[in-house]
Amino acid sequence: MDKKNFVAKSKKLSRDIIIEKSLNGIKFSREELTYLFLYAESEWVYRLANEIRKKKKGNIIYFRGIIEFSNYCSKNCLYCGIRRDNRLLKRYRMEEEEILEVAKEIVNKGFRTIVLQSGEDPIWNTERLVGLVKELKKLGVSITLSVGERNRDEYRRLKKAGTDRFLLKHETINNALFSWLKPDTSLEKRLRCLNWLKEFGYEVGVGCIVGIPRQKLEQFIDELLFLQDFKPQMVGHGPFIPHPHTPLATFPSGSALLTLKMLALTRIVLSDANLPISTALSVLAPELRIKAFLAGANVFMPDLTPITYKRYYDLYPGKGEYQPDLENLLNRLQKVGLKTDLVES
Ligand code: 5AD
Ligand code: SF4
Repeated sequence: MDKKNFVAKSKKLSRDIIIEKSLNGIKFSREELTYLFLYAESEWVYRLANEIRKKKKGNIIYFRGIIEFSNYCSKNCLYCGIRRDNRLLKRYRMEEEEILEVAKEIVNKGFRTIVLQSGEDPIWNTERLVGLVKELKKLGVSITLSVGERNRDEYRRLKKAGTDRFLLKHETINNALFSWLKPDTSLEKRLRCLNWLKEFGYEVGVGCIVGIPRQKLEQFIDELLFLQDFKPQMVGHGPFIPHPHTPLATFPSGSALLTLKMLALTRIVLSDANLPISTALSVLAPELRIKAFLAGANVFMPDLTPITYKRYYDLYPGKGEYQPDLENLLNRLQKVGLKTDLVES
C-alpha cells in the first residue's frame, strides 16, 4: 500500500479509535501499525501514548534499582561490549555477601524492587542464584533476574526460590538478524525460554535493539505484532550504541527518536505493560528522558552497582560513566506532573 492509501485509511483510524482499541486490548492490524509507525506524526503518537499511560498506569513512575553482579559472559553477541571475546575488558564477579550488602543499602534508600543482572556466567549457576534469591527475599523486596538463557528446570527452580520477574530481551524478532547477532543461540531457543518463563508465572520482560546494523524499517512492524501477540508484562527498547571492541564497532548508533517512537507504539499496543526507559536511551540522548516519560514510559531503572565495578559492565560506551542525578530527575518529573514511587507491589 502506498502512502496515499495509508493516509486515506488513517482518517478512519482516529484518536478515539486508537485509544479505545488500546485500552481494551484489541489488536492492531499490520496496516494500522505501519501507518502509525511510518506516517503518523510522531508528536501525535507520543501524546496518545501519554494519555494511555495515564489512563492505565496513572501518573506514577516506578523506580527499580539494578545490581550488575558479574560481567563474565560465555556468549559472543556481536554488539555487546562484555562479549566473551573482548579480552580487553577487566572481568569481575561479586560474591553473595557483597551483593546482599549492596541490596540492603538499596532497600535503605527506599527501593523495594531489585534487578539482578549479569552476563551468562557459568560460575553464577542456578544453584547459587537460588540461594541468593532466597536470602534477598528476606529483605522483603521484589526480585527481577536478568541472567540470560537457562533450561526449563532452572527457570522453574528460580521461580520457586521467590523470583518475581525475569528480563530476557529478545533483541530482534527477525530470524536471520538474530542468528547473525547472536551466534551462540537462536531466535527459536530465545522464544522457547520466554514461553517457559511465562508458563512458570514470571512477569516477563523483553525488548529490542533499535537501529542495529542490517535492521530494516519494516522489521519494526513485526516487532510490534510480536509484542501484541506475546503480551509481555515489561518491554524495554534501547538504541544500538557501537562498542569499539566488538565486530560492530564501525557502524553508526541507532536513532534515539526511532527508539522513542517504538516506546510510544509499544504503549499503544500494550496499554498495561511496564515500560522502562532504557539506559542506552538515557546515555545516547539524556535530553529525551523526560520526553520518554511523556511518551508512554513508566519505569526508571537506575544502575546501583558499586562504583568499583560499574565501569566494567561496559555493554556500550558511556554506560559505565552514566550516573543519573536522581534528585534532579525526581524534581523534573514532578514539574511535568509525574509522581515517583520506589515502593512497588
Ligand atoms: N548497544 C545497545 N544495547 C546493547 N546491549 C548490549 N550491547 C548493546 C549495545 N552495543 C543491551 C542488549 C542486552 C542488554 C544486556 O544490553 O539489549 O540485552
Ligand atoms: Fe552476553 Fe547478553 Fe552481552 Fe550477549 S548481550 S554477550 S548474552 S551479556
